[in-house]
Amino acid sequence: MKSNGLSKKLLSSLDHFIPDRRIRMTRVAEKNIKAAITAVGGYVPEDVLTNADLEQMVDTSDEWITTRTGIKERRILKDPTKATSYMAIQAAEKVLTKSQTAAADIDMLILATITPDMKVAATAAKVATDIGAFNAFAFDLQAACSGFLYGMSVAAAKIEAGHAKKILVVGADKMSSIVDYTDRTTCIIFGDGAGAVLMEASTNGYGREDDYLRSNGVGQAYLNIKAGGSLHPTTEETLAKGWDAIYQDGKTVFKYAVSEMAGAAQKVMERNGLTPQNLDYIIAHQANKRILDATQKRVQVGTNQLLTNIQHYGNTTAATLPLLLRDYEAHFKTGDRLLFTAFGGGFTWGASYYTWAYSLK
Ligand SMILES: CC(C)(COP(=O)(O)OP(=O)(O)OC[C@H]1O[C@@H](n2cnc3c(N)ncnc32)[C@H](O)[C@@H]1OP(=O)(O)O)[C@@H](O)C(=O)NCCC(=O)NCCS
Repeated sequence: MKSNGLSKKLLSSLDHFIPDRRIRMTRVAEKNIKAAITAVGGYVPEDVLTNADLEQMVDTSDEWITTRTGIKERRILKDPTKATSYMAIQAAEKVLTKSQTAAADIDMLILATITPDMKVAATAAKVATDIGAFNAFAFDLQAACSGFLYGMSVAAAKIEAGHAKKILVVGADKMSSIVDYTDRTTCIIFGDGAGAVLMEASTNGYGREDDYLRSNGVGQAYLNIKAGGSLHPTTEETLAKGWDAIYQDGKTVFKYAVSEMAGAAQKVMERNGLTPQNLDYIIAHQANKRILDATQKRVQVGTNQLLTNIQHYGNTTAATLPLLLRDYEAHFKTGDRLLFTAFGGGFTWGASYYTWAYSLK
């Protein structure tokens, strides 16, 4: 009798709370939106700069470049009337076409780049307007080779917060515009290209699982373009000193890149229960094949798990991650575990874990 009395009480109290609970459950569901990559695209210029070509330009050899970097060729946007926006637009339009998305439905466009068309006037705004994304707000994100990784994180947060439904994240760099082709220590490394992804709310529970992003200003001394900013505006003197082209202390950058890319990847693996056995692919910034090999060994994954295309394009800065996605998209299956990791100027670095949200087949 007592228990009947209690359950009646309980029932009546539940009746009282049911409407509230429903409201709360709806709010929780909104909070649980997960951002997913739903389409990828990329663009590289037609002109190829091979190691043999570089042998004619600086004192180097195919053998030196291949053994030190793993790069065989890069693409160069030769047309002087075309800039980073041109490549970004090609990549973004491919994504819209593939996903059958109307440009007017894009809420936001992030362009990760260190080579904007102009120093002032966000290149992202031009890209958004030229593709017809009139309802989007757009901005450039400058985090060098980590720019695309940072951009995906910002986009995912906006989607998960319910502030945006469709976001284009583009990584594009015309590195040939800031490379000194008489400097053999840098001109062998970089290439031009662009890649893009569409990010939306996941419909199947797969998508962004975790991010770990970091930076350290100590890097300013080791990888930079000294002139052209507010510290050293371009003058005849800065031009004479070569301060308007990209400079790097290769050995220091190499050490930081290996340690931080692998460290960030390991941290994200640990806190998500990822192991070399249950992880499908590592999408790592294509800086240098030796950096990739060292990262792969530290993270202890197989060579087939760490994807590469550096041999074809060199280091395209913000474009390497989305170009990898474009080149390997056909291999990915729904639910595959992908770990992104990147390192770049600043220094900037990090790792992101995504469960892949679709299969092409
Ligand atoms: C740039 C990099 C390939 C140079 O390789 P390295 O083994 O460190 O080579 P070093 O800079 O110590 O130079 C070794 C020698 O090769 C020479 N050298 C440099 N570039 C050369 C080239 N393209 N061809 C032939 N010789 C070259 C150097 O002048 C040096 O000669 P020396 O011993 O007579 O002085 C390497 O440091 C690197 O990949 N760093 C990371 C770069 C990177 O990924 N940047 C982007 C980060 S996002």
